[in-house]
Amino acid sequence: MLDFITVILAAGKGTRMKSKLPKVLHRAAGKPMLQHVIDAADAAGARRNIVVTGFGGETVRRAIGDSVEYVEQKEQLGTGHAVLQTEPLLGGEHGTIMVLCGDTPLLTAELLARFHEEHVLAGAKASVLTAIMPNAKGYGRVVRRDNGEVLKIVEHKDATEEERQIHEVNSGIYCFDAQALFSALDKVTNDNAQGEYYLPDVLSILRDAGEKIWAVTSDDYESTLGINSRSQLAIAERILRRRKTEELMADGVTIIDPHTTFVDADVRVGMDTVIYPFTFLEGDTVIGEDCCIGPHVRFQNTVVGNGVKAHYAYVHDAQIDDDVDLGQFNHIRPDSHISADVKLGNFVEVKNSDIGVGSKLPHLSYIGDCDMGAHVNMGCGTITVNYDGKKKYRTVVGDHAFVGCNSNLVAPVTVGTNAYVAAGSTITHDVPPDTLSIARARQKEIEGWHDKRG
Ligand code: UD1
Ligand code: CA
Repeated sequence: MLDFITVILAAGKGTRMKSKLPKVLHRAAGKPMLQHVIDAADAAGARRNIVVTGFGGETVRRAIGDSVEYVEQKEQLGTGHAVLQTEPLLGGEHGTIMVLCGDTPLLTAELLARFHEEHVLAGAKASVLTAIMPNAKGYGRVVRRDNGEVLKIVEHKDATEEERQIHEVNSGIYCFDAQALFSALDKVTNDNAQGEYYLPDVLSILRDAGEKIWAVTSDDYESTLGINSRSQLAIAERILRRRKTEELMADGVTIIDPHTTFVDADVRVGMDTVIYPFTFLEGDTVIGEDCCIGPHVRFQNTVVGNGVKAHYAYVHDAQIDDDVDLGQFNHIRPDSHISADVKLGNFVEVKNSDIGVGSKLPHLSYIGDCDMGAHVNMGCGTITVNYDGKKKYRTVVGDHAFVGCNSNLVAPVTVGTNAYVAAGSTITHDVPPDTLSIARARQKEIEGWHDKRG
C-alpha cells in the first residue's frame, strides 16, 4: 500500500452546533467525529496525521491523545491558511499530503485508499474528491470545462446563479504533491466573499501554472457528508449505526431489529450471537460467539465471553466470562469479573468484585468489594456491608460457601470454604471453613399473648 501524510482541519468552532465542545469532538456511534476521520486515514495508509487545532485546541488534544501530531492555527483565516500552518512540519516532505476535515465521520478507508491511488495513477499535483449532492447548498461547486477537466472550485457565497445549479461539490478532501502544495499556498489570497484564504484556490493556481489537477468522484455522497449541526450529527449517527449492524450481520450475527439495536463503531461481536431489540453495545465492548443479548441490555466497555445470556441488564467496564446467565435488572459496575457459569438472577448489583466459577446469586443482592470463590450460593437478599460511612472494606467468601437468605456480611470479613451462614445472620466476625454460623436473635414464643394484650 502506498502511504501518505494527512492534514486534518479541525480549528473551526462549529458555531452551528451551539456547543461548548469543539465540533470535531462531538460523538457519532460512540466516537468523536475527528477520531473516525483519523481511524479511516490510518486504515487507508496514513503514516503521519497532523491535526490543525484552534478553537478548544487543548480540549481536542486531551480527547484525541498523542497518536497524532498537532499544529495550532491561532486565528481561523480560512482553510488555505489552516494548511499553511503545517509548513514548518511538512515543508520538507515529499510524496502525497491528503487534506481532510475533522467533521466528516462517514469517510471510509476504502474511499480514501481509492482516492489516493487514483491521484497517484493520474500523476497529478493536486486532486480533489468530489460528490454529487442532491442538495449542494453551502458547498463549494466543482466547475468543469466542456471536456470534463476541472477548471476551479467556487464557494457557494462567491458563486453565480448558474454555478449554484451545479450538483457536483467539493468534499473538502484533497491529495496534493507536498512541494506543489506549499508553493501554491503562498500565492493564495483572501480576495473573496468571506475574506478567507481558500484552500481550493490551490487547484486553479496549480492549473494556471500548467500542472495537472485531477478529480475523483465518490460513488455515494453520504461518505463525504460534513457535519455542521446537531441535526446532521443525528443523520451521521444513523448511517454509522446502519453500517455497523450491516457489517455484523454479514459476519454472522443475528440482529432481530437493526433499527432498535445500537452498536458503536469499534464493538466486536462473535458469530451466531443473537441480539434482541433495545440493546446498546458501547465503547470497547467485545461480545463472544453464541450469546443471546437483549432485549434491553446496555454493555459499555465490557468484555463478554461465549454463550452468555443477558437481558434487561446494564454492565459497564466489567468482564463476563463464558456461559454466564444474567437475569433481569442486573447492574454490573466497574472492575467486576464474573467468571464462567455464574448465574445472576433478578435485581443483583455487583461492584468491584470477583465472582468465582459457577457461583449463584439468584435474587436481590448487593455485592460490593468482594472476592467470592467458586460454586458459592448467595441466598436471596444477601448483601455485603462494605462501607462504614468513611471507608470501603472487602469481603471474602470461600469456595462452596452457602450463605442463607437475607444475610449481611459486614466487611472486612471472611466466610471460609465450605462454611454455612444461617439465614438472616449479620456476620461481623470471620466464619472458619466447614463451620455453620448463626448470628441472629433466637426466636422465642410468648404464650397467650393475644389475650394478654386485651
Ligand atoms: C469547505 C470548502 C468547500 C467544501 C466544503 C466541504 C473552502 C474554502 N471551502 O467549505 O469548497 O465544499 O468545505 O465540506 O475550503 N477550518 C480550519 N481553519 C480555518 C477554516 C476552517 O481549520 O481557518 C476547518 C474547519 O474546522 C472545518 C474545515 O476546515 O473542519 C472546513 O471549514 P468550513 O468553514 O466548514 O468550510 P466550508 O465552508 O464547509
Ligand atoms: Ca464555512
